[in-house]
Amino acid sequence: MPTQLQAPKGVAEYVPNASAAFLAVRDALSAPASLAGYGYVELPVFEDTNLYIRGVGESTDVVSKEMYTFQDRGGRSITLRPEGTAGVVRAVVEHNLDRATLPVKLWYSGPFFRAERPQQGRYRQFHQVGVEALGSDDPALDAEVIAIAWEGFRSLGLTGVRLTINSLGDGQTRAEYRDVLTRFLDTLDLDEQTVQRVKINPLRVLDDKRQDMIKKLADAPLITDVLSGEALTHHEGVRDYLSELGIEFVDDPRLVRGLDYYTRTTFEFVHDGLGAQSAVGGGGRYDSLMADLGGQDLSGVGWGIGIDRTMLACAAEGIEIAPEARVDVYLVPVGDAVRKQLVVLAASLRRAGVRVDMAFDGRGLKGAMRAADRSGARFAVVMGDRDLAARTVEVKDLADGQQTTVTWSELIRTLQERLR
Ligand code: HAM
Repeated sequence: MPTQLQAPKGVAEYVPNASAAFLAVRDALSAPASLAGYGYVELPVFEDTNLYIRGVGESTDVVSKEMYTFQDRGGRSITLRPEGTAGVVRAVVEHNLDRATLPVKLWYSGPFFRAERPQQGRYRQFHQVGVEALGSDDPALDAEVIAIAWEGFRSLGLTGVRLTINSLGDGQTRAEYRDVLTRFLDTLDLDEQTVQRVKINPLRVLDDKRQDMIKKLADAPLITDVLSGEALTHHEGVRDYLSELGIEFVDDPRLVRGLDYYTRTTFEFVHDGLGAQSAVGGGGRYDSLMADLGGQDLSGVGWGIGIDRTMLACAAEGIEIAPEARVDVYLVPVGDAVRKQLVVLAASLRRAGVRVDMAFDGRGLKGAMRAADRSGARFAVVMGDRDLAARTVEVKDLADGQQTTVTWSELIRTLQERLR
């Protein structure tokens, strides 16, 4: 016998009923963005590798270690998208969306790919909903973006999501802070890998989650101590709006995030029910990304939320997201003569908005009724030869077993009424 094939290691895939929860989470996270005027973008799943090298940054783990990069048949270097922001900004520039009214507001959803070591909540193919708003420096926009995510979590019934925020300052602050931090890090006894990290991007060292490093970094200088007046005013603005919106947040001056494009506002949504991978989402501002990718010098702000991790957060809080029942009505043909009639009836009922399934393969009455029970349907509609002649069906309420005879012409209306 040929060996059975399996999905590649570490991919998140969903089959019913988990897939219904997947769609429900995706829709819950994106609905508040649509309400705020964000338009949907459907972007390629693979891009020119240079987009991520230039956009996300060579010093990041995402680009240096985790990209699925390959040569296509034309010898071009292609990368499966590890994140969405660089692709969105590329598309905005390519399609001149930034030449219309600003800010340009977009949302997206789909699979992303990172060659990480798989574990609970960390996959090689995972899924995000994301929003990006480009072309405005208004701190109210940072707050709007955060409020959209907050509303998505709230609408799912999640209560355990915490928001942490920071400001990485503008380009000048970052350069200054880099020097101050490097001087501090030079005084520490660091392993070789960390020394190399300091050389490429010292801010990333603050991201180190190892206990001994957390201890060593306890006295590290904080970026909030060196913020420029302008960056500070912006940050205060964002915090004020969040307070007005009643969105609780915790300042975390060490929050640097894993992608290089961030400036000023950065934030993360964390949940304690996920184990080691506590971030359900994250985002921030990126002042120079568009210019770095060859576009106008416009800033942007956005986030990406993991659908997979949000599902885990819901499970951790005992939130049942998707209803189990798949159909309302289950059709049961008794004998071959009625089958054609029931196939047509199924189509008419579905056109009328009733969710319908039926028994296939000439299954006997007993087996078909068992399948009806399992389908989660409220009613079984049984048709035999005698019904065919009388142009009727038997409608059986699967909850109480009550059975009534209904004419074909009355069936759609009767079911619609009883399902209401
Ligand atoms: P990120 O923090 O790299 O940001 O990813 C956002 C979210 O995607 C994470 O919080 C997590 O929920 C999910 N995620 C990331 N990697 C994995 C993985 N290996 N397995 C499961 N879930 C994962 C970004 O991607 C930025 N593009 C967000 C952004 C948008 N910033 C500005 N605009």
